[in-house]
Amino acid sequence: MPNLFSEYKLKNHTIKNRIVFPPVVCFGYAGSDGIVVDRNVEHYTARAEGGPGIIITEATAVWKDGRLGPFQLGIWSDEHIAGLSRIAETVKKNEVLSLIQIHHAGLISPESVTAFPGGPSPDEKKPGSRGLSVDEILVIRDAFIAGALRAKKAGFDGIELHGAHGYLLSQFASSFFNKREDEYGGDFAGRMKLATEVIKGIRAVCGEPFIIDYRLGANAPTLEDGIEIAEYLESLGIDILHVSHGGSLLNLPRTPKDFEFNWIVYSGTVIKTHVKIPIITVNEIKTPERASWLIEYNKADFVALARPQMADPSWANHVKNNELINLCLSCKPKCRWYEDSNLCPGVKKLASLRAGELAS
Ligand SMILES: Cc1cc2nc3c(=O)[nH]c(=O)nc-3n(C[C@H](O)[C@H](O)[C@H](O)COP(=O)(O)O)c2cc1C
Repeated sequence: MPNLFSEYKLKNHTIKNRIVFPPVVCFGYAGSDGIVVDRNVEHYTARAEGGPGIIITEATAVWKDGRLGPFQLGIWSDEHIAGLSRIAETVKKNEVLSLIQIHHAGLISPESVTAFPGGPSPDEKKPGSRGLSVDEILVIRDAFIAGALRAKKAGFDGIELHGAHGYLLSQFASSFFNKREDEYGGDFAGRMKLATEVIKGIRAVCGEPFIIDYRLGANAPTLEDGIEIAEYLESLGIDILHVSHGGSLLNLPRTPKDFEFNWIVYSGTVIKTHVKIPIITVNEIKTPERASWLIEYNKADFVALARPQMADPSWANHVKNNELINLCLSCKPKCRWYEDSNLCPGVKKLASLRAGELAS
């Protein structure tokens, strides 16, 4: 029976355990040029030293006008490669599989990034939003492929395509957002055409050993759609599927009464029964016991824990060595990292411990 610290062989990699540090944008670290700063490198060094098997570097913009905010890391130009290679290097030095999430926000890009955010179709609730022309779609497609190649040049083992949380790829894939009647919409094949061309293009330029992971919004817009997309992505040759949510709170699948996790984790466990490629589950897994249960009962191949490893960069090592964990306090109304990671009670506590203000 596998457990949280069982190895996993993927292509020519042996991943040392089943714990993933998923993508987490570090708000306010980088400037508007999207270039990695020392603080980014320190953040990933601490998480890599902390012992997970996989680190997925945060959502990194393939196109300047497609950012989710003006502080986002970029991979839209060759100028980004040197900084990103510092992250790939520190992660790999610690024998952690190093992926990077590449991203375009589409209709969700805020006014501080663009006055006219584009997606498959205009969003009626968002003034200025518009449907992209086919020429613009091709430019974005090529930006994803060029971004993946830059990730490879920077030394990452692979990329994760951000196809979840209501961002561009999930907008195209979902009949809820995609109302186009041309070749990039209409039916399932049309809605998946952009993702298909991106994946085939990345495989062609980055080669077979390069890992392609896809973060899927399970309710796309229903779980049945999510399953259909998952099966299709597997047939395209992706290597990992990371099951999260689709950004909309409609059509949420019902979890069985005796299932002790939320619908996002549940969706991951259901999708696992439909594909053979490894599945990462995520969202409010929170504790080592819950994470272990998902692996031991073969409900997932990997478990991603974001906030627990934000509050405690050494979460994986602490679990492995049966040591105390610096707990995430699940701040309300939302995680303090959305404003400034220094406001996180976990980060503050670690800083106080280091300064000798608290007994260790
Ligand atoms: C501050 C913050 C930033 C995030 N940034 C990203 C991101 O860049 N890309 C992404 O796919 N998800 C992002 N997420 C979502 C996390 O990857 C994860 O799915 C979510 O926090 C739920 O997992 P958890 O309950 O273990 O924290 C972010 C979450 C937080 C709290």
